[in-house]
Amino acid sequence: MLNINKIFYGGDYNPEQWPEAVWQEDVLLMREAGVNLVSLGIFSWAKLEPAPGQYQFDWLDRILDLLHANGIQVALATATASPPPWFSRLHPESRPVAEDGLPYKPGSRQFYCPNSVAYREAATKMACEMARRYGKHPAVTMWHINNEYGCHIHDCFCPVCTRAFQNWLREKYTSLDVINDTWGTAFWSLGISDWTEIQLPNRTTSYRNPAQVLDYRRFMNGSLLNLFKAEVDAVRTNGATQPLFTNAVFGLKELDGFEWGRYQDIAAIDIYIDPSSGVQAWKESALWHNLARSWGKGKPYLLVEQTTSQVNWRGVNTLKAPGTIRTFSYQALARGAASVMFFQWRASRSGAEKYHAGMVPHFGTDGSRIFSEVKQMGSEFARLGKLGSQQIHSRVGILFSYENIWALEIDSKPAQLEAWSVLRPWHQALIEQNIPLDFVHPEDDLNPYKVLIAPMLYQISEDQGEKLKGFVRAGGTLLITYFSGITDLNERIWLGGYPALLQDVLGIKVEEWQPFQPGESHRLSVDGETVSCTHWADLMHITSAEVLGTFTEDFYAGRPALTRNRYGAGTAYYVATLAEQDWLRHWLASICREQGIEQLVQADPDVEAGLRAGADGASSLVLVNHSNRTAHVDLLGKRGRSLLDDRAVMGNLTLDPYGVAVLELEG
Ligand code: GLA
Ligand code: ZN
Repeated sequence: MLNINKIFYGGDYNPEQWPEAVWQEDVLLMREAGVNLVSLGIFSWAKLEPAPGQYQFDWLDRILDLLHANGIQVALATATASPPPWFSRLHPESRPVAEDGLPYKPGSRQFYCPNSVAYREAATKMACEMARRYGKHPAVTMWHINNEYGCHIHDCFCPVCTRAFQNWLREKYTSLDVINDTWGTAFWSLGISDWTEIQLPNRTTSYRNPAQVLDYRRFMNGSLLNLFKAEVDAVRTNGATQPLFTNAVFGLKELDGFEWGRYQDIAAIDIYIDPSSGVQAWKESALWHNLARSWGKGKPYLLVEQTTSQVNWRGVNTLKAPGTIRTFSYQALARGAASVMFFQWRASRSGAEKYHAGMVPHFGTDGSRIFSEVKQMGSEFARLGKLGSQQIHSRVGILFSYENIWALEIDSKPAQLEAWSVLRPWHQALIEQNIPLDFVHPEDDLNPYKVLIAPMLYQISEDQGEKLKGFVRAGGTLLITYFSGITDLNERIWLGGYPALLQDVLGIKVEEWQPFQPGESHRLSVDGETVSCTHWADLMHITSAEVLGTFTEDFYAGRPALTRNRYGAGTAYYVATLAEQDWLRHWLASICREQGIEQLVQADPDVEAGLRAGADGASSLVLVNHSNRTAHVDLLGKRGRSLLDDRAVMGNLTLDPYGVAVLELEG
């Protein structure tokens, strides 16, 4: 277990890009900046093993010793993220193949097929060597396994993957009858008579079999997870006992963060907001923070990478405005992170990321606005150690699973769907009011929650359906939207009116739906109020639900748009469209209030609040003003001590433009 008694602060450190003379300056500056953790060795494979089996660890020994001597802890990478050129020269079959069927070429990073046996062997060998040599090194506090699995290569269409997919299917389905039935191959004459007929789902003449596409997603997620597990195993069986993690990429849909979370000691994520999106940026990054924390079941997680300012990989790379390096870092603390880290410590001089900001800019540190913000945070975080171990407790959950979004985004649907845009309105309505929320996997324990929201929970198993019913029966409040509960876990429709498994809990049956064209909006009437709506309209029949809102336009005018059904001790709402954001916000707040769930604070727009509580009963409120105006915050009766300026606070609080506050609460 990781004993967290501090905020880990630092970044990716790539000393191999610099002459050793610079290292001395690095550690001095790290100390000056309050850096206490660096991620080391992520892209060092070619320097550590310049030729097959010839290791050069001396430089890594020296830098680890230097860091240790300066009190800086290390999250040591297995150095396997990017195999050296000799590897792909010797193992041409390890080169990944793109969806268009053409092989990728060397010259960048993550250049390997996820099912390459040669890569797995070479990477685990490297991980063994690292663990053997550094497993007991006093600087090594954590292991950073590989790096951002699937960031570039999460699909591969090579012959090795084809065979591996066939074997994976054979093992999963055991017989051709079962796979034919599950995949519904009776349609379009796709009946399989030999496992080798099954190919990877690329370059097809028209729509691919959706069940096959879904299995391919599971297979690729599993292929990458197997690589991760092999490295974990290598580290563990070679004497390294430190906590380990791998850093996930924000927004990446192809890897199942909940499943990966089960094999890590601490969840970890890299988040790069787009400063050009203005105040929308904090709402977007809040989503990734909430997701990462949810992978780790609410425990403190690591923010492994963000940028101090520009990235180099968007079309136009906007700076982070003064003060916002700090606001986005405090956001991590508000959302339950145990670390604030950056890519990278020193901005590179050459290579593809030399225009990516670092904690130490090309300019140098003297008079640098970036370094001064970096330094300010370092000294502040040193006072906030207690936060590191405190956790967030939410009673509102948004049901979310990667399998669901894989299925949802497969083509040949009533409309082309995009997963994050389905979640965003619900997530945003809650965070804008500072109502804490988690993402909850449908197979997780639902008991901690009072309100569960299911935006387009498209696929559902019988067990999941029973669980949701049980949740409501026992007194829970469930909000389900259109296009939920439509199929089983293999793209087969549950028949008899959508969502067939949840009809009794909802008291409705959907017969048809009208997806709206982009930009099209309609109206509904709720409680005498006219509300606009977009995206979708379900046409439903009522069995036992009470109608709370109706559509007012088009041929479905007068048909229900919002219903409520009492079921057991609880309540289930069905929302047949996407209502406008203002209405959604008020409606969600009123539902939460009925369940005794209050906003953490009442504040001007773009103030973000997070409440963290420790096992010792102590709790902290983190407040971040993401706007360039002074903001007022009503603490709703909370009182405490403001840790950054050491003063008592009660009632109200004013935050400067881009200001932050951390209150140690009383009582
Ligand atoms: C990713 C990688 C880093 C670096 C950054 C740049 O997150 O893990 O190595 O490339 O992106 O933003
Ligand atoms: Zn492959």
